[in-house]
Amino acid sequence: MRAALFLALLCSAPAVATEILAVRQGELRDFVSQDCGSCHGMTRNGGLGSPLTVQAMRELGDEALVATILDGRPGTPMPPWRGLLTEPEALWIVKHLKGDVP
Ligand code: HEC
Repeated sequence: MRAALFLALLCSAPAVATEILAVRQGELRDFVSQDCGSCHGMTRNGGLGSPLTVQAMRELGDEALVATILDGRPGTPMPPWRGLLTEPEALWIVKHLKGDVP
């Protein structure tokens, strides 16, 4: 039972990217370059916000990144995006920033 649950959890992670419709993935790509890019740089090399390069993102865990995106960093200009983004969408953005999905 526990093994089955573990397996289900393992399998659910990579499936997330494909659960998001292609059209929404296109919107999220634009959203990342425009809205996130306004602070993190159009090329994601940083600005007001820290660099979101593939290299920088790969050093951090998916869960921590999803939490930062959804809840922001209180006390810094990083705003919370919950309300505009669902959790699967935030995870898709993390995978996109890590270069795992185009
Ligand atoms: C208003 C400016 C602003 C916008 C817009 C913004 N960020 Fe940030 N973000 C920041 C700042 C500033 C930090 C650094 C916070 C700190 O000092 O810990 C940050 C930190 C982060 C981090 C943590 C990076 C790390 O190395 O720990 C991630 C991930 C992140 N932002 C993703 C995003 C994403 C994705 C978007 C678009 C949905 C976005 N940000 C939009 C300002 C912004």
